[in-house]
Amino acid sequence: MSAIEKIKAKAKANVKHIVLPEGTEPRTVQASAKILAQGIAKVTLIGNEEEVKKVAAETGTDLTGVAIIDPATSEKTAAYTELLYELRKAKGMTMEQAAELASKNTLYFGTLMLKAGDADGMVAGAINSTGNVLRPALQIIKTAPGIKVVSSCFIMELPDQKWGDNGVMIFGDCAVIPNPTAEELAAIAIASAKSGEQLVDLDPRVAMLSFSTKGSAKHDNVTKVQEATALAHELAPELQLDGELQADAALVESVGQLKSPGSTVAGHANTLIFPDLQAGNIGYKLVQRLAGAEAIGPIIQGLAKPVSDLSRGCSVDDIVSVVAITAVKAQA
Ligand code: ACO
Repeated sequence: MSAIEKIKAKAKANVKHIVLPEGTEPRTVQASAKILAQGIAKVTLIGNEEEVKKVAAETGTDLTGVAIIDPATSEKTAAYTELLYELRKAKGMTMEQAAELASKNTLYFGTLMLKAGDADGMVAGAINSTGNVLRPALQIIKTAPGIKVVSSCFIMELPDQKWGDNGVMIFGDCAVIPNPTAEELAAIAIASAKSGEQLVDLDPRVAMLSFSTKGSAKHDNVTKVQEATALAHELAPELQLDGELQADAALVESVGQLKSPGSTVAGHANTLIFPDLQAGNIGYKLVQRLAGAEAIGPIIQGLAKPVSDLSRGCSVDDIVSVVAITAVKAQA
């Protein structure tokens, strides 16, 4: 069973309610019917009902069973406006601004549905940037208790099964925190390990990547990874985690055992933590393009309730997959 098939099976076992704020976007409309037909989630599309139905007719989509909610006419909008104002007034938001966002910005409306407990998860990004999808979530949903930072990971499914666990690996953070501190890097490592366990039953072996292995080079960037490694050990002593490691020391047994003898991670890593977003984003795209890996994500981790971002180039099936991931995260 592929990683995504495993995730879909998990989603179907305990069906959650996922809201799709880009409700008039054609791929999203088509995905909503597929998600329902496959029993992956209960779905609500946000948008003007007439427009949603027009797109459904144009794409030959049967929306039976898919809920549609229009912020401009919904009886919930007043309560969501109040909720948004209460949450953001200390940051300077006025009631007028809250009303404008709740009634006109479907990303805010969807996030408020989630906050109010009227949905279990949200998926967007087919026509919005990562920043625009994440900002309302960071402002309204906030981090889960005990978690300081929101980050992301990708499930990488490689054609060559010798890597990771039968070709399945986790890469973090490839989409959210541009220049993480040592504390943030430790949090990314712990959250990525947890995502791997939760979504694809990985027994995490986490490599904290750098251009240095165990002090072979000296630089502030290396020191940051060393500090993050020590912090991650403190925060999650049970986790198999090693660093700082170069990528070959993390992945290739002979190199790993030479450079970090006795390590259970070096040479066997299935979870790679990149030192910053430039490395992480470039790293996952190189592996996707040059090694032909399937890159599933970005999977946003650390929020109190799950919100997922789509790539703007996503297909209908990509949306179905990300909804399944979000539904499984909502089960936790
Ligand atoms: N974790 C938790 N909270 C956060 C985080 C975080 N990582 N980042 C910001 N916040 C909080 C802030 O504390 C703030 O809270 P407050 O308003 O209640 O005080 C709120 O979120 C907004 O903070 P800003 O700094 O104004 O947020 P910003 O506008 O910088 O947006 C964002 C944050 C969107 C995550 C930004 O860091 C970003 O754009 N990251 C890169 C995204 C990207 O372009 N990725 C690459 C493409 S994705 C791909 O290729 C798959």
